[in-house]
Amino acid sequence: MSTAKTPVAILLSGRGSNATALIDAARDPAFPARICLVLSNKPDAPGLEMARQAGLPTRAIDHRPFGKDRAAHEHAIHAALEEAGAKTVCLAGYMRLLTPYLTNTWAGRMLNIHPSILPSFPGLHTHERALEAGVRLHGCTVHLVTEDMDEGPILGQAAVPVLPDDTADMLAARVLRQEHALYPLALRHFLTQNPATAANSAALVVA
Ligand code: GRF
Repeated sequence: MSTAKTPVAILLSGRGSNATALIDAARDPAFPARICLVLSNKPDAPGLEMARQAGLPTRAIDHRPFGKDRAAHEHAIHAALEEAGAKTVCLAGYMRLLTPYLTNTWAGRMLNIHPSILPSFPGLHTHERALEAGVRLHGCTVHLVTEDMDEGPILGQAAVPVLPDDTADMLAARVLRQEHALYPLALRHFLTQNPATAANSAALVVA
């Protein structure tokens, strides 16, 4: 029996290693997503080129011509998502703050991965801040996107130890390996739940 696959779009701004993890996972016929679009606000993002090489539909919608009009940029993004038939969106290193237009339009259907155990360390420079704070556990979170940055319902988390001689780069690399495991797992879990109750379900934990 063939599995019904949900069309999923990925938004990215950079290297795209989490996008690669999702794309690789979606190659499995049993995985409940197919990647219908990889879209970037940066035309030269390495992740966009990776997706092209993987034979996937890609779009670059540069934010710069839109100037300060973030909502107009997001209308263009939304139109591209609709055109591609996306039903779920995964932010994977998408480095633009979203306005309520896009977060409301995609409420309950947009996921993000963040490199910390939320609600600790929302925002940028999470690994440096984790080292400064002296935490002994750090990690990553997949959550639903809401209007407030890094605050939506948590779908899954993974934890790694912070080791005595860690630099921010060493810690980032250890977390990133877990991101690549967690994001496909959380997406699969999300898509195979009733979307109305997914946010209330037990979070996935990867130790
Ligand atoms: C990841 O650390 C992700 O958690 C954060 O941005 C980074 C993107 O890396 N949101 P990549 O482009 O997926 O390699």
